[in-house]
Amino acid sequence: MSDNNGPALRKPWVEKYRPYSLDELISHDEIISTISRFIKQKQLPHLLFYGPPGTGKTSTILACARQLYSPALFKSMVLELNASDDRGIGIVRGQILNFASTRTIFCDTFKLIILDEADAMTNDAQNALRRIIEKYTDNVRFCIICNYLSKIIPALQSRCTRFRFAPLSPDKMIPRLEQIVQSEEIQITENGKKALLTLSKGDMRKVLNVLQSTAMAFDIVNEDNVYMCVGYPLRQDIENILKALLSGQSFQDSFQNVDGAKCARGLALEDIITELHLIVMRPYDLSKEQRQNFGDDITLQLRLARKKRWNIVEEKRIQEEIELQSYLNRLIKDDMENRLSNLKLNENLHEEQLKEKQQEIEQECDDHIKELNNIYSKVDERRRKRDVPDFLCGKISFEILTDPVITPSGITYERKDIEEHLQRVGHFDPVTRVKLTQDQLIPNFSMKEVVDSFIAENEWSLDY
Ligand SMILES: Nc1ncnc2c1ncn2[C@@H]1O[C@H](COP(=O)(O)OP(=O)(O)OP(=O)(O)O)[C@@H](O)[C@H]1O
Ligand SMILES: [Mg+2]
Repeated sequence: MSDNNGPALRKPWVEKYRPYSLDELISHDEIISTISRFIKQKQLPHLLFYGPPGTGKTSTILACARQLYSPALFKSMVLELNASDDRGIGIVRGQILNFASTRTIFCDTFKLIILDEADAMTNDAQNALRRIIEKYTDNVRFCIICNYLSKIIPALQSRCTRFRFAPLSPDKMIPRLEQIVQSEEIQITENGKKALLTLSKGDMRKVLNVLQSTAMAFDIVNEDNVYMCVGYPLRQDIENILKALLSGQSFQDSFQNVDGAKCARGLALEDIITELHLIVMRPYDLSKEQRQNFGDDITLQLRLARKKRWNIVEEKRIQEEIELQSYLNRLIKDDMENRLSNLKLNENLHEEQLKEKQQEIEQECDDHIKELNNIYSKVDERRRKRDVPDFLCGKISFEILTDPVITPSGITYERKDIEEHLQRVGHFDPVTRVKLTQDQLIPNFSMKEVVDSFIAENEWSLDY
């Protein structure tokens, strides 16, 4: 760890507590021991580190570089490029080629080029790089670092030894967090630690950043202060919203309630929904874990809720269509009135001609209205059909079937639902309760065909 004196005190904690040597890194034991072996045997291959943010990729390669080179040599032996540097082909042909092709006098070991945040490199630049990697392997090793492996062209991937940095596990993060808490003399509660770990989802940078801002803003780091600091809904907020939703209020009142909480506390709707979803799904998951069959009741309620939501959307759509229809009717009539009054201004027409023209306009208007209402009556027919028949839905989730399988009892299920049921609940057919194992499931091709043709004719059903 870097020293804690002088200006280091004012550093952001992510930098202040960046692991200095390989043995300070938490988690990734396999990766660290493999790389240490490479270094010991002086056989470091080209490296490709990938994985989500804040998992130690940059820290690992910097610690390797410190192990490989003395501080005096570090600057001349290591070239570090990150997202703030230009990522086009120019830098590959210029700075990288230059550094790779020159040798440092009186030094027999290879140099190291770190291409951090390489997701941002253009494809041309990556293609230019593969030739350089091959040509100068005697002289230089590359370490390419990215979040998404798919952003690195296969030719580069195959020239490197790949290491995936997984999100850090909470039990590995806790001791590190506690060490920092102690050294910064912070007052923190157990729930505060839990909140930091839950929010960070395995990203140690996030843990440290949120810890530092909460510690600066509040005297104590507890759950509420952590959530408040990042603008995440507090447990109390979610409980209030849930209570309001379940209290049988009208849709309008519930909506206003959630929207009010959102605006007053500056919360993101996505965070509210994530938390509500966790609470709503908890009994469902528990019942599955304990192999109890409340699951069926819960699925039924979920299905009813989904139907209700679908009906609300449908009613709104129908209302909009009706409004559009009457608006168009009104436009046609207004147009007719306009044309009739313009006609009256035309002094060149005899009475007879005027009458004829008036009738023509009225007839045209009538035809348009008939035609329009005719079109709408077809829409009406389609509208009435807008419901997915039950037999096209799985018997467990009641969602439209995508991979239907049939059991020996003749019941069709969605494959993933019935497989999950067999694994989690037990080896029986949920409808008939007859003994059932996974190898007895047979793809129901004819049902698949029926579902596919229904979807082809009713594309809306994909949103059902
Ligand atoms: N494995 C780890 N052990 C100890 N500290 C870590 C570890 N991973 C991350 N950290 C902490 O998080 C900070 C950020 O880590 P680092 O810069 O290495 O992440 P990264 O994987 O390169 O992320 P990004 O993909 O966003 O560049 C470090 O300064 C360190 O404090
Ligand atoms: Mg990094």
